[in-house]
Parts: sequence; C-alpha cells; structure tokens
Amino acid sequence: MKYQDVSGGRAVPEPLPNPYTPGQVPRVLAGRRSELARIRDQLGRVGTFGEIGGPLLVFHAPRGLGKTSLLRAAQRDAEESGFVSAWVACSRQHPFLPELVRAVGRALERAEVIPADESARWHARLDRVGVQLGVPGVRVTGEVARTPPPEPAAAPIAAVEDLLHDAADRVRRRGGAGLVTFVDELHAASADDMSVLLNAWQNLDGDREHNPLALVTAGLPVTPEALTRAATFGERSAFVPLDVLADPDARAALAAPAEALGVAWADEALDRIVREARGHPYFLQLMGSTTWAAAVPGNGDTIGLEDVVAGLPGADQQLTAMYRARWGAATKREQEFLSAMAEAGTDNVTRAQIAAALGTDTRSISVPRERLIEKGVIEPVGHGLVRFTMPGFAAYVRHRND
Ligand SMILES: Nc1ncnc2c1ncn2[C@@H]1O[C@H](COP(=O)(O)OP(=O)(O)OP(=O)(O)O)[C@@H](O)[C@H]1O
Ligand SMILES: [Mg+2]
Repeated sequence: MKYQDVSGGRAVPEPLPNPYTPGQVPRVLAGRRSELARIRDQLGRVGTFGEIGGPLLVFHAPRGLGKTSLLRAAQRDAEESGFVSAWVACSRQHPFLPELVRAVGRALERAEVIPADESARWHARLDRVGVQLGVPGVRVTGEVARTPPPEPAAAPIAAVEDLLHDAADRVRRRGGAGLVTFVDELHAASADDMSVLLNAWQNLDGDREHNPLALVTAGLPVTPEALTRAATFGERSAFVPLDVLADPDARAALAAPAEALGVAWADEALDRIVREARGHPYFLQLMGSTTWAAAVPGNGDTIGLEDVVAGLPGADQQLTAMYRARWGAATKREQEFLSAMAEAGTDNVTRAQIAAALGTDTRSISVPRERLIEKGVIEPVGHGLVRFTMPGFAAYVRHRND
C-alpha cells in the first residue's frame, strides 16, 4: 500500500508493521514440537474415544520461556479440531475454582452448546456450583485428601467433578470433540484449590469412558512440588519442563515472522541475537523487535548485523527496567542472597557457596532461597544448585554492587 508523502508529494511505501511480540503471544510459535505433540496426544484420545485425555498435563518453566504461548497455540489447535476450550489464569488475588466455573460456563455459551431455551437453567446450575464452592469453612487439606474426604470437603470436589463431566458431555452430545480446559499460572492457585482440582480429576479419570475432557496446565517450576504437596497423588500428573529454544528454533523465531512480510535476515545478524538471547524466547522477541525498529525494513530488504547493533541499546533499556523491578521486589535478605549468587560468577551456584559468601550456614539461607524460587527469579538445577532464570540478571546485580 502507498500513501502520499505530504512534504514532497511522492508516493512512499507504508512502513511494515513490527512483527515481533515481546510480552505477547508470538505470531509464529517456534519449536515446541514435542510439547505440542504431548497435548495433541491427549486431545486425540478425547476426540477418538470420547474419553478422558489422561493425567493432568503440567508444563513448568521460569518466566518468559513460553508457557502461555504454548498453551495459546494448543488452544487454537484444539478449537480447529472441534474442541470447546476454556481458559483460566490463576492469581493469588482470586480463588481459582469460581474462575474455573465461570470460564467453563462462558466457553459453552460461546460455542453455542447451550440451547437458548436452556440458558436460564444452565446459569442456575453454574450459580449452584458457585455456592457449593463458596461454602464457608470448607477446606480440603493434603491430609484430608489422602483418606476418604469427610462430608464438607466432598462438596467442592463433587461440584467441580459434576460440572466438568456435565460440560464435556454436553459438548460431545452436540457433536463436538470434547472439552479442553487450559489453566495458566497454576502455581498461584491455593493448596486447597489444587487439592479440589486433583481430587475431582482423579474421580473423573476413574470413570474415564464418560468424560471427554482434557486439562492442560502451566506454571512456574514450583508447580510440581506444590501439586504433590496439595494431594499425594498429584505426583502422578504428567510434568513436562519447558526449556530454552534450541538454536535452529531460536533462528526460526526471528526469521519466520519477518519472512511472512517479505523481509530476510542476514546470517550474521541471526548469529548475534541467538548468541545474546541464549534461546530465551522473550529475549529473542525483544531483540527482534528493537532490531526491526532500528532497521525499518521494507518488503525485499535484508536485516543486517548493523541493525542488530543499532537496536541493542533499546533492548538493554527494557531489560534493565525488568531487572530493576525484580531486584526491587526482593527483600533485603533476598537481595543479599542474589548478590552472593551473582558474585560467584558461575551459572550454577551451590548452597554452600552462597552460605559461605554470606558468612552463615546453609540452613539459614533456605527461606530466601525458597522465596526466590517461588518468585521465579532463580531455579533449582539439582544437587542443591541454583541458577538465575533470566540471562543477564547476574551481570546487572554485579553492576549494581560495583
Ligand atoms: N516458541 C516460541 N516462539 C517464539 N516466541 C516465543 C515462543 N515462546 C514464547 N515466545 C515469546 O516469549 C515471550 C514470553 O512468552 P510467554 O509469555 O508465553 O512466557 P511465559 O512462560 O508464559 O512467561 P510468564 O511466566 O511470565 O507468564 C513472549 O514475548 C512470546 O512472544
Ligand atoms: Mg505466562
């Protein structure tokens, strides 16, 4: 498309829109083939046999690695294959189960699974479930979940179980493949809510031929532990870690959105960003975006190394703001812990190294360690080792302390 340049009256090409999406679902999901295959496998079971997809599927990874993007791509896939999909994002501010009920209710209405003349009854049904979940004093603890749950605790489990069963059954009877529910940020759900969900899922699985349902979730790396603590059988969920993108996928994350607009990347430009971003999807999108903004390419152009270099300061500014926010959200003790980690100068740092740097014993650093893991700032990598989840954060902390 052309527009008139008012100054010279010449027609100049309209600038192409920036196709990169730092902080948003990507235009092209690079890699993640095996993860998508895991989801498709469950959906295939639901679609083909009309039965439950399998155990709770739990993707876990630190911030910015692409959990939400993966789930959104899977949701698109699922809807194209005839599924009705519900989406819930947990947060510490709102109880998760009423959100789940609302999301399932809305999904069925949007898909026109509920005939108009049943709408009032369906709403009354949802309200009843909401009441059952809101019963004051109802608590389901991990302890209760191991033994047969007593009466009050059974109410919310039965409410969730019945609702999911009924919703999936209605979808199927209207000719749909089944119901798939996506739960993002699962780590933010309370232990009680996780326990209800796990118990309900276990019951639905026990009667699997009648429940054309799948449940796909994602959360920070603490999620598997939190689920296992909420109910012992939580450990039988299918836990899948998301890693950084392998080099060819990182290159595709940059090249594919540009290619769709007729813009190419020079090899050395890709090499540079891939090296800087170390496979971290957010970094790739951010640097792709600032490079594009510096290059202002038109159809048929090639983005070069000089564009990457020109874009880097913009990316740095954005990252520094994010590092500053993470640092500011840490308590004094957590900041001391982070400084000790950063000063170690290696990617993986042992508990003993941190304790020694702080002049204390390993036990007394366990609280800040756990809190920082929960916040997704650091992650355990086995054998008592931890590392930063965001490339560049260690250098930022060292720089602050200079
Ligand atoms: N497979 C991918 N290909 C290309 N870009 C991706 C991919 N996965 C994620 N991204 C990009 O990375 C960034 C982070 O993705 P996303 O929000 O999905 O991560 P997340 O793990 O959900 O993070 P958080 O824990 O903060 O919610 C986004 O800018 C997104 O566009
Ligand atoms: Mg997310």
